[in-house]
Amino acid sequence: MIKIGIVGMGYWGPNLYRNFDSSKDFLVKYICDRDLKLLKKISVSNKFTSKVNNYKKIINDSDIQAVIIATPVSTHYSLAKECLEAGKHVFVEKPLADSSKKCQNLINIAKRNSLTIFVDHTFLYTSAVNKMKEIASKKYFGNLLYYDSTRINLGLIQNDINVMWDLAVHDLAILNFIENRKPKIVSAVGHKHFKSKPVTSAYLTIKYDNNFVAHINVNWLSPVKIRQTILGGSKKMILYNDLEPSDKIKVFNKGVDVIKNENSPSNLVEYKVGDTFLPNLKNTEALKTAVLEFKKMIHNKKYKSRSTGQNGMDVVKLLEAADRSMVNNGRPVKV
Ligand SMILES: NC(=O)c1ccc[n+]([C@@H]2O[C@H](COP(=O)([O-])OP(=O)(O)OC[C@H]3O[C@@H](n4cnc5c(N)ncnc54)[C@H](O)[C@@H]3O)[C@@H](O)[C@H]2O)c1
Repeated sequence: MIKIGIVGMGYWGPNLYRNFDSSKDFLVKYICDRDLKLLKKISVSNKFTSKVNNYKKIINDSDIQAVIIATPVSTHYSLAKECLEAGKHVFVEKPLADSSKKCQNLINIAKRNSLTIFVDHTFLYTSAVNKMKEIASKKYFGNLLYYDSTRINLGLIQNDINVMWDLAVHDLAILNFIENRKPKIVSAVGHKHFKSKPVTSAYLTIKYDNNFVAHINVNWLSPVKIRQTILGGSKKMILYNDLEPSDKIKVFNKGVDVIKNENSPSNLVEYKVGDTFLPNLKNTEALKTAVLEFKKMIHNKKYKSRSTGQNGMDVVKLLEAADRSMVNNGRPVKV
């Protein structure tokens, strides 16, 4: 069993704890949060698990092989760096760090010490996103035309990151997973609704050098929670609603054909309206699969993962490009 400590037991940490605790491959030796009141509320059933309020205790324990980091984004880098320098593998919550330079440093340290960095882009482990990728790669789907995502809710306004680093990060990871090509241009327009807080709502546009474009709408000030994505193909279209308890994915046999010469003003548009089908999705919790993936990466350095430090850095580079565009009111930025 791989002995681990989990740092950060706020909103997300307990989900990680539950999944690592129920895995036969890991032993959670410590759960850690500097907030003692919060720690007290967490019930621990395994007698080998201790609660600590100083992460140094985990780092200084030579028995510990890996550390799970679920603290605010601005703390990821320093914590992950200390862990890697102490010879521990790391499982870091998304996004890997608050700059690509820091991501690169972490990647270098991990490489030097033959250690694993796993970045938790949780959606890549959902059945829905995997099914979407599978369908999009089929001939019957046609060419990718667009990705349109709405990810809004009355969110916890963070102090260290803007809404794109909190929510659009998921879409960027999904896009990098579904489309092998790297994006060419990012533009973003966002708004700071409170002077003392980061940007609370934003629209991103990401263009590829084929005919594919992505639009992402993220907002912490929405009265309703929406997690809806449309992936448009030239032959089929997918509607993905992550809040649906079942049937999260619907595949529409709908589309548009421009017939005759595309450049002619007299060309004709033909609308296709066919059947809709609901693919069967496995009901496995994404974090359970992520935990298994982390184990595989630790055991096999050659294992091809979708959650490497490099994958984490690719996403952070897109977020940085979006930030640069946003300060110039949406000016397109090359990536
Ligand atoms: N993968 C997902 O779908 C998903 C969902 C939510 C949050 N997250 C990520 O999880 C991370 C945490 O988010 P959250 O919403 O749980 O935040 P949170 O503020 O609710 O929890 C963070 C906890 O970390 C603790 N902490 C901070 N610094 C510490 C330190 N040095 N030592 C010990 N404890 C420390 C805080 O006391 C707090 O309890 C973020 O990176 C966020 O992006 C991921």
